[in-house]
Amino acid sequence: MNPIALTGIKPTGNPHIGNYLGMYRPALDLMKDYQGMYFVADYHALTTMRDAQKLRDLVYEVAASWLALGLDPEKAIFFRQSDIPEIPEFAWILACFTSKGLLNRAHAYKDAVDSNLSNNHDPDEGINSGLFYYPVLMAADILLYGSAVVPVGLDQKQHIEITRDIAEAFNRTYGDVLIVPDGIIQESVKKVPGLDGRKMSKSYDNVIPIFATEKKVRKQVMRIVTDSKRPEDPKDPEGDNLFSLLQFFATPERLEEIRQLYINGGAAYGELKKELADLILDEFGEAREKFNALIADKAQLDQILDEGAQQARAIAKPILAKARKVTGID
Ligand code: TRP
Repeated sequence: MNPIALTGIKPTGNPHIGNYLGMYRPALDLMKDYQGMYFVADYHALTTMRDAQKLRDLVYEVAASWLALGLDPEKAIFFRQSDIPEIPEFAWILACFTSKGLLNRAHAYKDAVDSNLSNNHDPDEGINSGLFYYPVLMAADILLYGSAVVPVGLDQKQHIEITRDIAEAFNRTYGDVLIVPDGIIQESVKKVPGLDGRKMSKSYDNVIPIFATEKKVRKQVMRIVTDSKRPEDPKDPEGDNLFSLLQFFATPERLEEIRQLYINGGAAYGELKKELADLILDEFGEAREKFNALIADKAQLDQILDEGAQQARAIAKPILAKARKVTGID
């Protein structure tokens, strides 16, 4: 078996093309050189989610998204975090090797405390212990399968460092039991501009969703912000967000033509937007059909995730057994 590349996916619905280009595609590309392991991090979601049905729905939605966008369950191991009972057990063991100070400094927790303090509240008001413990659970996700690399966004860099610290602390006591993983930090996420030129992000309401209706996709593309230059005016393609988005979807030859139209005059924003919408609808047409079929067949999704969980547990069990043995739990 190739070394393992593992990543956890928080269940949030409705992926956009920024997610795809910045996260899905680079993570799936790793399957060429690694044994891919991808899981839906529903235990992590429980630190904030309080709507049971919504959590269930989102797990299916995110699973269908990954499968539709190219995750091949014949090649990669795809599962639901909560289907692995070894995870909470291992997380407890790891917690006993995690200094509390390390968790005090974790960004998500620290930000929540800082926000309480600046509002003159008790430092821990409204903060559940799951949020505090989040990095330990994530270390368990990574270390339980002996992952070699972990592709994540920049926002997860500190969690990888904490995972490495925990593995090293464990290994200092018991020898080289756990594999200390490397993060693969995908900074490119930042470079996919949204409709307004800022980073594409749901929180800015500037996204082009992948699995929306054709009408919605076209509507969003038409909302791309451009200046008031007329078609015949020369324009600078660099830094123009319509041009930046075209770069991801047009062929190199067509892109060069468009670049010349920008520079020499002749680029009409409205027509280029229509062209971009066609390209996006074309690129994701098959994925959209696949997504719709999967989301309508929960039994199939369950079966794929169940099979993945069995494979993941087969990898996890010997590693947990070893951790139990060296610590004297077993
Ligand atoms: N915390 C990650 C996020 O918010 C999700 C995650 C959970 C994860 N466990 C993981 C990522 C293990 C990589 C490896 O995106």
